[in-house]
Amino acid sequence: MELILDTADVAAIKELNDLLTVTGVTTNPSIITKSKKPFDQVVKEIIDILSEDQKLFIQVLATTCDEIVEEAKYICSLRKKNMYVKIPVTHEGLKAIKKCKKLGLGVLATAIYTADQAFLAALSGADYLAPYVNRMDNFGDGVENVKELIQMLEKNHMDTKVVAASFKNTKQVHQLLVAGIQAVTIPVDVAFHMIDHPGTDSAVKTFTDDWKKAYGITALR
Ligand code: E4P
Repeated sequence: MELILDTADVAAIKELNDLLTVTGVTTNPSIITKSKKPFDQVVKEIIDILSEDQKLFIQVLATTCDEIVEEAKYICSLRKKNMYVKIPVTHEGLKAIKKCKKLGLGVLATAIYTADQAFLAALSGADYLAPYVNRMDNFGDGVENVKELIQMLEKNHMDTKVVAASFKNTKQVHQLLVAGIQAVTIPVDVAFHMIDHPGTDSAVKTFTDDWKKAYGITALR
């Protein structure tokens, strides 16, 4: 199971990377612009935080096959290993996915709104498929569609990984974890909603208060 952070917020990546066991970071052009930093700078800052075993996923902006492949080569040159290029599953994108795989680049097929789109990208060799769970809810049932995709890949013995994306709440993540999703990429707010619970804080406060009443200190000894 891969837990990935869907953000270019460097401070949040540092904090969550300390708190959790994180496989990597995904971004897209909109996420990068929210950092309000130049592309090369923010990518370097993220690379500096990650260990070389953690994965980084950067999306192309080009929309024609040849230009996508050129951007993909540049993106994958930014790091020695574990760099993946995100390519939207447009006509040009699908062609580019095949070319990038022939070049041996790591590819995540993105902007996926249906299980069928994802399946076709998997047939073209994509390493990861990113269905946009929350956005899919505007056209049907995102979680159910991703569950179908998992079955389609399993039935065809395909090892392409689904990295469910575009989450807006913990329920969506939870439902896919129950379904056995291989990877999720979650935004910072959803990560903290998964971590934090007022009951946990209250329990810890009671432990400390009881100890202090009994022994007059707040440490074990
Ligand atoms: C990640 O790979 C996707 O680009 C991202 O999850 C999309 O999220 P959004 O629907 O919140 O923009």
